[in-house]
Amino acid sequence: MQHNVAELLQSDKFLQEVSVKGWVRTFRANRFIALNDGSTINNIQCVVDFSTTDESILKRITTGAAIAVKGILAESQGKGQSVEIQVSEIEILGDSNPEEYPIQPKKHSLEFLRENAHLRIRTNTFSAVMRVRAALSFAVHKYFTENGFYNFHAPIITGSDAEGAGEMFRVSTLNHENPPKTENGNIDYSEDFFGKETNLTVSGQLEAETYAMALGKVYTFGPTFRAENSNTARHLAEFWMIEPEMAFYDLDANMDLAEDFIKNVIKYVIDNCKDDLAFLNQRYVDEEKAKPADQRSELSLLEKLQFVIDNNFKRVSYTEAIDILRNSKPNKKKKFQYIIEEWGADLQSEHERFLVEKHFKCPVILFDYPAKIKAFYMRLNDDGKTVRAMDVLFPGIGEIVGGSQREERLDVLKEKIKMLGIDEKELWWYLDLRKFGTAVHSGFGLGFERLVQFVTGMGNIRDVIPYPRTPQNAEF
Ligand code: 4AD
Ligand code: MG
Repeated sequence: MQHNVAELLQSDKFLQEVSVKGWVRTFRANRFIALNDGSTINNIQCVVDFSTTDESILKRITTGAAIAVKGILAESQGKGQSVEIQVSEIEILGDSNPEEYPIQPKKHSLEFLRENAHLRIRTNTFSAVMRVRAALSFAVHKYFTENGFYNFHAPIITGSDAEGAGEMFRVSTLNHENPPKTENGNIDYSEDFFGKETNLTVSGQLEAETYAMALGKVYTFGPTFRAENSNTARHLAEFWMIEPEMAFYDLDANMDLAEDFIKNVIKYVIDNCKDDLAFLNQRYVDEEKAKPADQRSELSLLEKLQFVIDNNFKRVSYTEAIDILRNSKPNKKKKFQYIIEEWGADLQSEHERFLVEKHFKCPVILFDYPAKIKAFYMRLNDDGKTVRAMDVLFPGIGEIVGGSQREERLDVLKEKIKMLGIDEKELWWYLDLRKFGTAVHSGFGLGFERLVQFVTGMGNIRDVIPYPRTPQNAEF
């Protein structure tokens, strides 16, 4: 019977014959193979008897080679592992030339590994991150399914711009060297594949709203695209977003859901990814030690995760936050790159991180932002100048969630659209929701990679998605 390494390491079926396939991590003293098959971060030790094994086979047991092993499961004599396999048969399935194989058994830089993204998954760090990512993804579907939400697949190609930021990737089959032109010289998209201008989606929200207004509670979890030229450790041009949308939820209910959801999926990973998190925790602690004292995190990764689960997120209005920031030391001493002067200023990540990491020292939900700095669909408050928006801010990450209560009043929404110069015809179906059975409703978007970053402690978003897409970079 074929086993995997995770099973064998848990097993107490000593003296039984087992077989396993995997990749050689190291081969020591012509005797000890550390074998990994991806089922766990841990390797199983396979002990080869070199007196009975062909010299030609021994030579081919190199780092990276794929092998099949048969042998007897035994309690290990050596330190550091409880079981090992005493090998009786070994087959080389695929050689790996040690001169050429880039992933040597030593510490590689993350930059080097990004250039070898197709092989970096064979390291402990990346296999741990990607197993945690998979577990988080499962936890997301589990949470929503168990709480009465339907998974809704938003279209990836759309004709609408949900966020109105104009940072979209065009989808077109026109000959771009010689596109058809209209009489006034513009590109004639009526001749394009869809007969109109289309783009990759920046958010599934508008379509999710139509489904929430029929199914009650829905969520999307899909790829999202933004053509913003941001070369930061928290931005990708292609990322995955989770967007729940709920009929009859106001902003408070929306904030309650966001908080409960985040705590729940983090708890799932703590309970189900113990070995990977233990490894990532140690890695995080080592990385922090290398930083200057004033930039070091006081908590280990595991302590940070537990802290988020155990404490209420602090809810603060934008107006209160602006007061705090205006009177803060870094603002007065002009240490912020963007000095906060007036109410209405957009918050930069330096401000968000100050609030979370220095002032409140816990996750923060900011709400009731100025209408001017938020998207058109957010519900206007009675003060006429703020909207029912909320952002969840996390330590080390900044904004992890953006959401709002939606404007459900047709006249107010139409007015807003007009003010922003958006063509009403483009949004006819969105406006229809406000004509036929409109109701209070809300939702939010959580950037999946930012969540994975937080949970794994990885500093750069490029290291928590298999193949990062960023400006000037779409290898693989
Ligand atoms: O704040 P955003 O732009 O909100 C929306 O798109 C809403 N339509 C969501 C909704 O209400 N349904 O994006 C939501 C989240 C951000 O908080 C951030 O975590 C993530 O998506 N995000 C990015 N993640 C990685 N790379 C980028 N370029 C991102 N832009 C946004
Ligand atoms: Mg946002």
